[in-house]
Amino acid sequence: MRKVTLVDVFKHRITQKYLQRSGIHHAVTVAGYALEMAVEAGVDPDLATKSALLHDMGHYEWYRDGKWDYEEYRKHDIHAIKGAERAHKLLIRLGEDRTVAKEVSLAVLLHTDSYLPFELNGKRTPLQEVVRLADEKDEQPGGLHHYKQMDKSEAIRILHQLDLEVDQADYENDVS
Ligand SMILES: [Fe+2]
Repeated sequence: MRKVTLVDVFKHRITQKYLQRSGIHHAVTVAGYALEMAVEAGVDPDLATKSALLHDMGHYEWYRDGKWDYEEYRKHDIHAIKGAERAHKLLIRLGEDRTVAKEVSLAVLLHTDSYLPFELNGKRTPLQEVVRLADEKDEQPGGLHHYKQMDKSEAIRILHQLDLEVDQADYENDVS
């Protein structure tokens, strides 16, 4: 049995604070994609969905004078580093296993290499690759995926369903 569910993670005030910036719709959608991809790739679905849900929680406000300056944002972006730290702290506070917290934190750190001076192609673990691909699948030009709306109650409904599917996938792994 998992110590911490996706709904637990989502409801925490730290998650609520930081997910508003990058968008609940994007986070929940990427978690759904990550579950499908994880099952297909033989990756732990618990790790994949938690990493996907939290992958963008390091985003900061990118508006300047009411507008988003994309170039400026890219130049100073360290959202994956901030996100990795926040995700780790959040999971430990929720009583998550330390091994899980570290794996999720690393998957958040490496979900993109846009902030790094080198590429990560071919260097990611299967978990990290699933999170990258799930994120990419929901991406839209100009960062529009960050602006799609989703109610908190709708997010909880979907995440509860994903929790049931993660438990089911874990169970099937255990008996096979
Ligand atoms: Fe993203």
